[in-house]
Amino acid sequence: MVPTPITVRVPAKVNLHLAVGDARPDGYHELVTVFQALSLTDEVTVVPADEPTIEVHGEGADSVPTGPSNLAWKAVRLLAERSDRDPEEPGVALTINKGIPVAGGMAGGSADAAATLLALNAVWRLEMGRDELGALAAELGSDVPFSLQGGTALGTGRGERLVPVLARHTFHWVIALDKRGLETPAVYGELDRLRGESGQSRVGEVEPLLEALASGDPRQLALLLGNDLQASAVSLRPGLRRTLRAGVQAGALAGIVSGSGPTCAFLCTDGEAAVRVAAELSGAGVCRTVRVAQGPVPGARVVSDDRAD
Ligand code: C5P
Repeated sequence: MVPTPITVRVPAKVNLHLAVGDARPDGYHELVTVFQALSLTDEVTVVPADEPTIEVHGEGADSVPTGPSNLAWKAVRLLAERSDRDPEEPGVALTINKGIPVAGGMAGGSADAAATLLALNAVWRLEMGRDELGALAAELGSDVPFSLQGGTALGTGRGERLVPVLARHTFHWVIALDKRGLETPAVYGELDRLRGESGQSRVGEVEPLLEALASGDPRQLALLLGNDLQASAVSLRPGLRRTLRAGVQAGALAGIVSGSGPTCAFLCTDGEAAVRVAAELSGAGVCRTVRVAQGPVPGARVVSDDRAD
């Protein structure tokens, strides 16, 4: 019998609010964040195979590792261990199709790990529930549980403790991709450095943003977007200042660096405005390329499972 592949689609995220606390003894920073899942997606296909391999296609695929350092492969090993399989001979091959910017601050690597957990759960018929998968996801990385869950959520701890948040209506975004990625630890490190030097200001409380999400008014939400990592991403990549300005000049309500950057996300009034902003921004020469996206969208989900039973 020919083995049937399982494909999982998984969204990118943007942090609408990212309050970064001080560094903890384990090196992580305590966060209060609001994630929103966006309609930029990766697809991960898992197929039973004698030879364990990982193939990556799509934009930026060249810079994604195809060895054991790939977070999706770490997900394979972790789930193999926990289900009494040999992590060296897991008997599966992965294919990743990238639609999420690589090293862009949109949790692309975390998304692939979340998708891999869900796909393997089906391929190996483990019947783990969302909670059990969520706990494994948290072991893999701070953003992996949210990639599994999707929607809009408040994250605390290092970002892995999640509570769903009510977000009325769909929000419309323009996403500006930069030429090169940024390394997340370097951006956190730069924040610590800037804070040591000048007591860098911090974003305020999260409650007003939660109210704006519940109201569904993009204008109100735009006033409250905030990201403590923005200053450090801009410090490491000063050109982002120009990108952020250009998005607002093009008609966006507000622009923000997504997570640790360098991708910038611009909130727009509606879908038509987003298309206009995207067209103008792509002509402004301030970024590699632009995408239009909506949020919230669901988390990782199986999109193909053709097995007969
Ligand atoms: O958890 P994850 O592997 O995605 O984190 C990548 C890096 O980002 C960490 O090694 C750490 O340097 C930084 N980080 C942090 N505080 C967090 C989340 C991530 O300092 N809450």
